[in-house]
Amino acid sequence: MKPEISKKEYELFRGFFEDQFGLALKHHSREQLAKLLEPHVKRLKMKSFIDYFNLISKKSTANKELIRTMTAVMNTESYFLREQAQFTVFLDLLNKMKKQKLMRSDRSIRILSAGSAAGQEPYSISLCINSSGTPLSNWDITIYGMDINPEQIAKAKKGIYNAYALRGLGKNVIQRYFDSINKNSYQLHSEIMKYVHYVRGNLMDPKNFQGRRELDIIFCRNVLIYMSNRAVNRVISNFWEALCDRGFLFIGQSESLMRHHMLFKRIKYPEVTVYQKMDPEILTKKKI
Ligand SMILES: C[S@@+](CC[C@H](N)C(=O)[O-])C[C@H]1O[C@@H](n2cnc3c(N)ncnc32)[C@H](O)[C@@H]1O
Repeated sequence: MKPEISKKEYELFRGFFEDQFGLALKHHSREQLAKLLEPHVKRLKMKSFIDYFNLISKKSTANKELIRTMTAVMNTESYFLREQAQFTVFLDLLNKMKKQKLMRSDRSIRILSAGSAAGQEPYSISLCINSSGTPLSNWDITIYGMDINPEQIAKAKKGIYNAYALRGLGKNVIQRYFDSINKNSYQLHSEIMKYVHYVRGNLMDPKNFQGRRELDIIFCRNVLIYMSNRAVNRVISNFWEALCDRGFLFIGQSESLMRHHMLFKRIKYPEVTVYQKMDPEILTKKKI
């Protein structure tokens, strides 16, 4: 028998997930949502999806069951050097940025991987910087990984991956930066991990960005695509506030910031589009 979730129940979950995580549920039909939640309803010997809704919606967000629900409904797939062309552009921008910073005697670089999953993205950033051959010793480099899901943060801190997560890396890179633990597990070296600091946080919450040093570059890839328009607006405005003047934003190649053209300038490379923070007034004047 197919698990049934009524329209009213579906709407309750939909509204709750949007408020809590920004998730739009656009990729889940009623039937798919029921399939994902049914094992949890059964495990807890509950009679209905409404009982389950009451459990996850009444307690604090630290509640274990809410984390299970999050893991069931949110996509956490990631792998090293995903959308590789972006990392080439990133290194190019970083080198230019470093030259400009040196003129101001500023030797700090702050990068955020927003929606960092199990660490594949922030560690890819660290890998690229470390293997680019430019000396890092006299630079103060910090890469932050932020994710709403504490299970993902815990995995990221371990830095252990299966071969599938390393599929975007060449053999030489794997041999140089990972230790094989067993047939299908690899431990990333601490020399790459040490640049990355993890924060559990919701990208929609402006408090997670306040009081931090300004960011030079934000990667937020394959996250916005799952969000409602309202949530995307909140997240993009948080990014705009958190970035330094003319800082850069990378989003997934299948994502677009068309609705936010007043805040960011689009810079087009052959395979990659990067967004640069602009003062909205400057952009408006340019268009006149
Ligand atoms: C599909 S993964 C993308 C990972 C990586 N950025 C990449 O492109 O490979 C999406 C990640 O975003 C996180 N996420 C989704 N909504 C979030 C939110 N509102 N705040 C923080 N993290 C969020 C999920 O937990 C998940 O780990």
